[in-house]
Amino acid sequence: MPHSMITVTFITNGGKVVSAPENSNILRVSLREKGGIPFKCGAGLCGTCKCRIEQGLEHTDAVKAKERKHLSEDDLANGYRMACQTFISGAVSVSWQPPAAKSAVAAAGERLSGGSP
Ligand code: FES
Repeated sequence: MPHSMITVTFITNGGKVVSAPENSNILRVSLREKGGIPFKCGAGLCGTCKCRIEQGLEHTDAVKAKERKHLSEDDLANGYRMACQTFISGAVSVSWQPPAAKSAVAAAGERLSGGSP
C-alpha cells in the first residue's frame, strides 16, 4: 500500500478517534468522519475552523499566509491552526471551541443585560 494511515483524535467530540491517509487535510478528515470541527468557507477566509493541535503539531505542514490573518503569533505558538488549511503527515489530536458553547455564552449575556427594571 502506498499510503500509510494516521490517527486523528477529535478531542472536543468526546475524543473520537479516526484514521486517515497521510497528508490529509484536517477539515476534510473531519467532514468525512464526522469529526465535528466547525467550518463555513473551507477556503481559508472565514476563520471558523480555528482549532488547536494539542498533540502532533510537528506533523502539521507550514502555516499559510491565510492562517496568519486569523491567528496571532501567540495563537500559532500555542498550536492553533485553521483546519481547512492544515495538512497532516502523522497522528494529531485536535480541539476547538464548540459553537454551541459560544452561543450559550451569548445567550447568558443577553439574559443578564435584559433583566427587568
Ligand atoms: S472554514 Fe473558513 S477559514 Fe477554514
